[in-house]
Parts: sequence; structure tokens; C-alpha cells
Amino acid sequence: MLNLLLIYLIYLISCSTNLVLCSEGDKHYIYQSCLHHCQQINCSTSSGLNSFHLKQSVFEQLTFWSCPDECAYQCMWKTVNHMQKNEKRVAQFHGKWPFIRLFGIQEPASTLFSIANFISHYYYGFRVIRKRLQYRVHPLYNVWLCFSIVALNAWIWSAIFHTRDKPFTEKMDYICAIELLDFEPIAWIIDAHSLWHFSTIILPLLWYQFVIDDSNYLLGAPYH
Ligand SMILES: *[C@@H]1O[C@H](CO)[C@@H](O)[C@H](O)[C@H]1NC(C)=O
Repeated sequence: MLNLLLIYLIYLISCSTNLVLCSEGDKHYIYQSCLHHCQQINCSTSSGLNSFHLKQSVFEQLTFWSCPDECAYQCMWKTVNHMQKNEKRVAQFHGKWPFIRLFGIQEPASTLFSIANFISHYYYGFRVIRKRLQYRVHPLYNVWLCFSIVALNAWIWSAIFHTRDKPFTEKMDYICAIELLDFEPIAWIIDAHSLWHFSTIILPLLWYQFVIDDSNYLLGAPYH
């Protein structure tokens, strides 16, 4: 049990020490010149900024897409199109595969699966602990309640990070999926990282069942 807790803590810590390095895609000459041009023309002149604000959807405003962010997104797809026409494979940009933006959400699949993990930890974890274990009766009650809150917190941030990866949000998540099976996103939506998040949705059901059984065992109560 302690071993598992330790592994989980290491997992959380490893999540907070992410460094996104330069990737092939963002070094590409088309990306570089597009970005430079876009930032000079679209983001540095009042007419450019005006048309940027006029074109921006409500969802993109709500998810804080700035003009340079928009340039990076547009230029990424321009470069991807070029790569698909002229080169054999598509490269990553700033450590990530290109993803299709949906309602201003940068990585829709990972965001959706992070929310599913949150719900799973809430229903199978937090709620079940409060219902089936008693404060000051079951040993480790506080530990497991805190554990579930830490998990809920982690999944909230995961959902936020996958919605937008501003430099501030880049600090956590990622590399958590020991992305051995890295591949181009399917339909530019589903990648290995999102599948990793998908695969963990069911874990709380098993994990907290063990927690409940173990707590009852420690109490000397019969199994339910
Ligand atoms: C820059 O602005 C023009 C005119 O609004 C627009 O057509 C173009 O897509 C923008 N460039 C990028 C890379 O976003």
C-alpha cells in the first residue's frame, strides 16, 4: 500500500518537472518565417490587431488565445500542410503533436479524458470514502480523503493544461505518460498521451475499492 502511494507521489512529482524543448516542427523555416511575419504584421500593427480581435470566436477569447498564440497555431498548420505535401512525416511543435483546436481547447481529447478522470476520482474516491469510511473511526481516513483531493486537484490542472498550454501551465503534466508508443495523433485529435489519460479513468474504481477494504480490515470490521 505504501509502495503504491510512493509510486503515485513520484508520478505527481515527475509531472511537475516537465521541460518542453524545441522540436523539429518549430525549427522549420516555414514555421519560423510565418511566425515572424505574422507577429510583425498581424500582432504589431493596429489594423492587424483589429482584424485579429474581429475574427476571434468567443471560445477562443474565453480560453485566452492571444495574437501570437493564434500566429503559432496558424503557422503550425501551414507548416504541417507543407510537410504532408513535401516531406514524409509530420514533426512535433514545441514538444507536442499538432492538434485540432475545438472550442478554443488546444488538446480536446486529453482535456475530455482528464475531466473523465476527475469525475471518476470524485464518484469512486472522494464520495465513496465519505460515505463508507468514518472520520476518527477508520484508520487513515484523513490520508485517503487527502489522497482523493490531491488526485482531484491534479486532474483539474491536467484538464486546464490541455485546454491551454501557456508557459505557466506548461510546468506540469506531460511526460507523465511514459509515452513509449508515440505516434501522430489519429485525426489530429487522439494521441498516445490522451490514450494514457483514457486508460486511467477506470483505475479509481479498483483503487478506492481496495482502500475501503483495507480500511475496514485495519479496523477489524467485516468486509462489506
Ligand atoms: C494574418 O492576418 C491576415 C489578415 O487578417 C490573415 O488572413 C492571416 O491568416 C493572418 N496570419 C496568420 C498566420 O494568422
